[in-house]
Amino acid sequence: MINFWSYKREYRKYKKSLLKQIDKTINKGNIFFGDQLKIFEKNFIKKNRGKYGIAVGSGTDAILISLKTLDLKPGDEVITAANTAIPTISAIINAGGKPRLVDIRNDYLIDVDKIEKEINKKTKAIIPVHLYGQMCDMDKINLLANKYKLTVIEDCAQSQGAMYKKKFSGTIGKFGCFSFYPTKILGAYGDGGFILTSDFNLFKKIKRIRFYGIETVENTKFKNQYYANENGLNSRLDEIQASILNFKLKKIDFFINKRRRIAKKYINELVNTNLELPKENKGTKHVYHLFTVSHSKAKFIKKKLFNLGIQSRSIYAYPIHEMKAYKKIIKNKKNLQISLKKSREIFSLPLYPEIKNSEVRRIIKNLKKILKNI
Ligand SMILES: Cc1ncc(COP(=O)(O)O)c(C=O)c1O
Repeated sequence: MINFWSYKREYRKYKKSLLKQIDKTINKGNIFFGDQLKIFEKNFIKKNRGKYGIAVGSGTDAILISLKTLDLKPGDEVITAANTAIPTISAIINAGGKPRLVDIRNDYLIDVDKIEKEINKKTKAIIPVHLYGQMCDMDKINLLANKYKLTVIEDCAQSQGAMYKKKFSGTIGKFGCFSFYPTKILGAYGDGGFILTSDFNLFKKIKRIRFYGIETVENTKFKNQYYANENGLNSRLDEIQASILNFKLKKIDFFINKRRRIAKKYINELVNTNLELPKENKGTKHVYHLFTVSHSKAKFIKKKLFNLGIQSRSIYAYPIHEMKAYKKIIKNKKNLQISLKKSREIFSLPLYPEIKNSEVRRIIKNLKKILKNI
């Protein structure tokens, strides 16, 4: 079976270095808030050309903590894409907000031309989701944000290293929220996340919120004392995960280049089929967290692939407004037709740095054969 994804090959490749690093970290004597976290935070900010930032417990927490700085009141709305991951939506609701969904374009990204009509007096923020590894049209989003005084929170869970007009994802909005879930471009061996921001005061606030509301930045009377300045939560990246991420961050360009090379191979070989292939938008750099294609017979193709020993996934098979948990709170369903249509037509092919060339060739050969016969 060609797995959709597995961390085991990566682990086998780097096992010696990873275990050495973990052993060193444990022996150092800090489980949280030690050297590894400090080094990781510094290097992650530098690598992404950000200004300030903190590591947190997950990508979901990164969005939740960013939203918490807005002090949302009942009824306040946050705009995002209808085809996003569940955590974008749960973070909005858990921060006290109400999600307002906007439909997507054919490139699976929020349709920026449809955002303005969803803005009203209650709108407080926009969360563009850089889905599959490609960035949304940030110029248009920023224009709207400035016009209506909205906070932009980039969901970069799938776009580590992606670029828009030479700027890294996560550095254009007020906040950039990353996930280190193991499947991601920069994956830990557990949960993790990161928030980038260019605003020093907001940086201080998110740093407090991640640690029970305790002040850890300024040299005030209460710095590092067990004293809450505001209500926070517990969202830490532990030293072991930070040490793994420190090791992997050094290889991030290699990981991304490898992903882009595999994507190019898929595109070159499948260009003459009737599959709708991912396209890299002008002025952007796609990092191919996922290689998502679309076809009206997606279900049938996926089943055929599986019978030939090839796993594929539909990410995501249900748009947010079709899910039981959210159906009732989404009022503009009729405006979300492309998200619904795409959710039925998409599937992603295996793509990760350790996939073998022979496996990619086998996937292409079998997929072509299936497509010829339908
Ligand atoms: C688009 C998107 N947003 C948010 C998240 C949440 O990240 P995490 O799983 O680290 O909480 C994910 C990951 O699943 C994601 O893909």
